[in-house]
Amino acid sequence: MEKYVLQIEQLHLYAGSKHILKGISMNIPEHQIVALVGPSGCGKTMLLRSINRMHDLNPDIRIEGRILFKGKNVLDRHTDPVQLRRQIGMVFQKPNPFPKSIFKNVEYGLKINGMRHSAHIRDAVENSLKQSHLWDEVKEELDKSALELSGGQQQRLCLARAIAVAPEVILLDEPCSALDPISTAKVEETLLELKQLFTIVIVTHNLQQARRIADQTAFMYLGELVEYGPTVQMFEQPQQELTYNYLHGHFG
Ligand SMILES: Nc1ncnc2c1ncn2[C@@H]1O[C@H](COP(=O)(O)OP(=O)(O)OP(=O)(O)O)[C@@H](O)[C@H]1O
Ligand SMILES: [Mg+2]
Repeated sequence: MEKYVLQIEQLHLYAGSKHILKGISMNIPEHQIVALVGPSGCGKTMLLRSINRMHDLNPDIRIEGRILFKGKNVLDRHTDPVQLRRQIGMVFQKPNPFPKSIFKNVEYGLKINGMRHSAHIRDAVENSLKQSHLWDEVKEELDKSALELSGGQQQRLCLARAIAVAPEVILLDEPCSALDPISTAKVEETLLELKQLFTIVIVTHNLQQARRIADQTAFMYLGELVEYGPTVQMFEQPQQELTYNYLHGHFG
């Protein structure tokens, strides 16, 4: 039987009087890549951010339903969001490295997690940079400011920073939208390798990207989950005409 890392159950999200997510239920299997697709404004980012409690500080947002992470409800008030985000990391659309050295960007989370020995830290930083396929490009200049890297390199650095603390899930919100095709291909290759270690949920507007890398694809429309299933089936034989039309670009 498939093991689910995340089980989203009847999730509703309201922002003020606006009903934004309308009863989303979906299970995310371990060690798979799940793509969230759908037109702009359908609620992909809202859903992704709910999973690691990024809405906590917004008093206008109200969430109902459950998101079980390894059986425990992340939305429960007893769940510590800081602890949760250590296990469920996030990479944003716009690369957001700290204005510090490449090394310090990756070291940061390790130190917060209590890693003290500098040799251990060095090994962990190197390992994360290798896993995110950035190591060869930066190994001679780890003290250089992260802000001097290209956008694609910065995004791989953000990925390295996210994986350094060994989370179980990585959430990515359009991580390639600001990248050229070569950088995009590098990130995709990295994600395909990383799924051996982590479970990955990625929002993308690039349908070909979903097709290339996602095991499962979820199609959202106007706050609802229209259809969710194995990527090949979603593209080739979806149950809903709306899914077919969207995934084949005949929309509107
Ligand atoms: N902070 C907020 N407060 C209130 N409403 C919001 C907020 N952020 C987004 N929304 C609304 O929630 C809905 C879903 O937005 P969301 O950002 O999740 O869409 P999306 O699917 O990620 O779109 P895109 O593909 O353009 O990134 C939209 O109607 C948007 O206007
Ligand atoms: Mg979005």
